[in-house]
Amino acid sequence: MSNMVSQLQNEKLLPLYTVHNMDLLDTVESILLENNLHFIEVTYRSDKASAAIKYLSESGKLIVGAGTVCDLETAKNAIANGAQFIVQPGIDADVLRYCKEKNIPIFPGAVTPTEIIQAMNLGLTAVKFFPANVYGGLKAIKSLGGPFPSLKFIPTGGINKENYQEFIENDSILAVGGSFIISEKTVAIDNGVTASKNLKELVSKINK
Ligand code: 3PG
Repeated sequence: MSNMVSQLQNEKLLPLYTVHNMDLLDTVESILLENNLHFIEVTYRSDKASAAIKYLSESGKLIVGAGTVCDLETAKNAIANGAQFIVQPGIDADVLRYCKEKNIPIFPGAVTPTEIIQAMNLGLTAVKFFPANVYGGLKAIKSLGGPFPSLKFIPTGGINKENYQEFIENDSILAVGGSFIISEKTVAIDNGVTASKNLKELVSKINK
């Protein structure tokens, strides 16, 4: 397991963040760092994704990844802007090969045994499990742990402050992801006060 992946496994939270307002990024960065979290997945769901990845990467304090990467062009753009890892909602073999060439960790989405076998045969040891709430949640992940005991999952989609603990207690879970960890909407309410308080609570329950 790479250092980055074992660090993610220790931290257990992979914040999924969509940027519309670049001005909030410094606050987001500080809130994550104050809580000893070092990862952020910036999604390609807004036209600010490249700029935000570049901005956060240049700051150099967080391990910045790109999410919602659905094609090679986006992967190349993300990596050129400093992305250190790639997350995909599903599997794209071209993106996987490119990331392997560049030595960039990648977590593609895989929810069925067929997709999981495909991902494993492409050399992966961890996949995203999305949308977790639709594809059977923890119950499905526990069942998949039978045939695939060494595979790790990063469930996202419907993970929230009520259910995240249950997920991370399971050995097959590398980390949980989602917008419940920190979102632009929450940060914008009061310049991060509420977001920081929420995150402190999430983290304190992990370390208990
Ligand atoms: C994803 O792409 O992983 C999901 O959209 C995250 O889902 P959430 O909005 O429920 O956190």
